[in-house]
This record gives sequence, C-alpha cells and structure tokens, in this order.
Amino acid sequence: MKTMALILAAGKGTRMKSHKSKLVHEIYGKTLIERVVDTAEKASIDDIIAIVGYKKEEVIAVLKDRVKYAYQEEMLGTGHAVMQAKEYLQNKEGKVIILSGDVPLLRSETIVALLNESENDATILTAIYDNPYGYGRIVRDNNGYVEDIIEEKDASESEKAIQEINSGIYVFDIQNLLEALTEITPNNNQNEYYLTSVIKIMHDKGLKIGTITVGDNTEILGVNDKTQLEYLTSILKRRINNMHMQNGVIIEDANNTYIYDDVEIGADTVIHPNTTIKSGVKIGENCNIGPNAYIREKCELADNVKIGSFTEIKNAKIGENTKVPHLSYIGDTVIGKNTNIGCGTITCNYDGINKHETIIGDDCFIGSNVNFVAPVKVGSHVTVGAGSTITEDIPDDTLAIARERQTNKQKRLTK
Ligand code: UD1
Ligand code: CA
Repeated sequence: MKTMALILAAGKGTRMKSHKSKLVHEIYGKTLIERVVDTAEKASIDDIIAIVGYKKEEVIAVLKDRVKYAYQEEMLGTGHAVMQAKEYLQNKEGKVIILSGDVPLLRSETIVALLNESENDATILTAIYDNPYGYGRIVRDNNGYVEDIIEEKDASESEKAIQEINSGIYVFDIQNLLEALTEITPNNNQNEYYLTSVIKIMHDKGLKIGTITVGDNTEILGVNDKTQLEYLTSILKRRINNMHMQNGVIIEDANNTYIYDDVEIGADTVIHPNTTIKSGVKIGENCNIGPNAYIREKCELADNVKIGSFTEIKNAKIGENTKVPHLSYIGDTVIGKNTNIGCGTITCNYDGINKHETIIGDDCFIGSNVNFVAPVKVGSHVTVGAGSTITEDIPDDTLAIARERQTNKQKRLTK
C-alpha cells in the first residue's frame, strides 16, 4: 500500500529573527526542509506533501517538484494546517505520517518503524523528558492506549507532571484522520485547531492509539531560534563523525572536525583538528588529513594520500602516496601517484572568467612555492624548481625551472 507524508511547513518562525523563512536556513550545508524531505524519501514514502504558508515561495524555490504543495493562508493551528492537504488525502487509502519541517534530525529508520507498526490504528512518536515543559503530554487510558494529548497551556498540574511528550510526529490511517479532523474545534486556551485533538476523538471511537518512544531524543529536536540551529548542527556533526569512527576512521578531535553529508573515508585514515570535508568527497585508506585542511566538493583521494596543514583542495583527483603537505591551493587538478607537492604550491585555475585544469603525473617532485598557471600539463618523473611559475606543459623526465636568475649587486651606500 502507498504511504504519504505531510510536512508542516507553514509556520512563521518568529524567534529566528530572520528575513528568510526558517525552513530555508541551512544546517550543515543543507536547508532544514531539504533534510526532512531527504529523510522521507530515504524511508521510501511514495507521496510527500509540504503544507506551506509563510514565505512559501522560498520553500518552494528550494524543494521545487520534489514534493506536492498544500497552502495554509492563516496560521490557525496544526490541525488546520493538515486540513489544507485534504484534496491529497481524499479517496486515498493507507497511512500518512505527519512530519515537521523544522525537525531535521529525525532518522529514516524511525519513520519506517512508525509505518511498520501494525498493532494500532494510529501511532505517536513520543519521548521521555526530565523537563517536559512546553510539549504536549501523553495521557493514557487504563489499557495503556493513548486517550489524549494535552498541550502545556491547557494542562492541569497533574498532567504537567507527565514526562512522556508528543514529538509532533505521528502515523495515522488516512481515512480515520480525515474523519476525526472534521470534528476538531478551537475550544482551547490558544483558540487553535490542534492536530492533537484528533487523538481523543479517535480514542472515543474505540480506535487504538499506540506509541513508539524514540531511542535517541535528539531526533525530535526542533529549530526555533539560531541558538538551537547551532546546537542541532553540533549534534549532526557528532553523528556523522561517530559514524566515520565506527567505520574505522581516526578523528583526533571530533568536536573540531567538520565532515558534511555523504563523504566516504577509508579505514585508518587520520583526520587532524579543524579540518572541513565537504559533501560527496571520497578519501581512501591510510590517508593523513589536516590539521586545518579544507577538502571541498568533488575531491577524490586514493590510499595513503597526505593533505597537510592549511591546504585547500577542490575538484581534485589525487593518486596513491601523493603528498600535499603544507599551505597549498589545489583546484581543478589531477595528480598521479607518488608525487610530492612542495609547500605553498598554488594551481592558478581561474582566469577571471573560466576555470582551467592542471594535470600532474606520477613520481614528480614539485619544489616549494610553485605556481601552475592552468591549463597546464606536467608529465611524470618531473622536477620543478622552487619558486617557478609554470605556464607551459612539461614533458616526462624533465627538470623545469621558470624564475628569474638571482643577481647580487653592490648596495648603494647612503650617508
Ligand atoms: C506541537 C504539538 C505538541 C508537541 C509539539 C512538538 C499541537 C497542537 N501540538 O506543539 O503536542 O509536543 O508540537 O514540537 O500540534 N504549523 C503550521 N501551521 C500552523 C501551526 C503550526 O504549519 O497553523 C507548523 C509549525 O511551523 C511547526 C509545526 O507546525 O513546524 C508545529 O507547530 P508549533 O506551533 O510549533 O506546535 P507546538 O505548539 O510546538
Ligand atoms: Ca606562492
């Protein structure tokens, strides 16, 4: 049976103090809303509908046709938001999962677990918090099924003491949800149409509402202000670093190592502090990276490569045992095996209009402070003299020197 996801993405996000929609803020190189859509896609959801409102054009510009859109013109509550997607839900059978556009760390495995829960008519993702302040509380009946969710602002003292909270993520049967939504009212302390009101309505009809308690509470954290944006970024960074360490990568200081999504790193590669590795980069085994290295997009490093301190590389393919140990910029470049790139070597890849390629062969020794003015091709077994500015191709087995000869002159003495 087909599955559907509704992403609540209409809210204003006032506390972000931003001119942009909260949902198009990037968290670790990707917008919040894209992370939520990525997760839904990874969980193999068939139909994804974003309910947009505030600054909707910005959200649509990011998501384009990856999702379908429903529009909420007025912020009348989460239940009202879901009702705006009615046209997509009508005449559909199966399950719908409700997600929030500002909850970017949810794992696709959690979505799959919620969708696979088949004992209940609806399933709520909950968490246990020491301090549940601000969240909807989960109220259970004598059989242990959920009978209601009570919002902080509507809760009695005894309800406020409940530590099990509603994450705002749920799976419903589509037709049960549509039916319950027709019965919700804004009779509560916020005068909103709460989505959470459908729980009591369903329970009163005899439907069974169960829960899955999230194993990792960080999955359900939302971003409401820029402090939380930074906090969630640090969690995401940790999560990615931990995954690489579990795969055999050595990270000296995981608090100060920034590895973006979808990076591949081989076992026993060491990452020294303050290194940034951008999305999609591939690094082999036994490499040595950093400190303070910046490995940008489209880089591929073979095994035993060294990229040392204060070196930036971009769109570079670097062969086995090659070293770029200090203070270099290597861009739009292919380097072969066993080559040593001297300190301060720069590929001059940009002429102000176009980018050009530098190709360097195997077993080369490039002296310090060499500039390669691209496009330029260097053969194998080449030595380049320190301080050279290379503007012409260099054949195999040659020594190239391109710098002015030194002259020592008599100093003019004054006084
Ligand atoms: C909601 C839940 C609460 C839960 C909490 C988890 C309700 C009534 N309460 O509360 O039980 O513990 O989430 O974080 O649902 N939104 C719209 N349109 C609206 C209102 C909200 O799109 O009219 C969006 C918001 O932008 C946000 C999400 O829905 O992404 C949740 O709304 P919010 O107002 O933050 O709900 P809470 O009061 O936190
Ligand atoms: Ca230089």
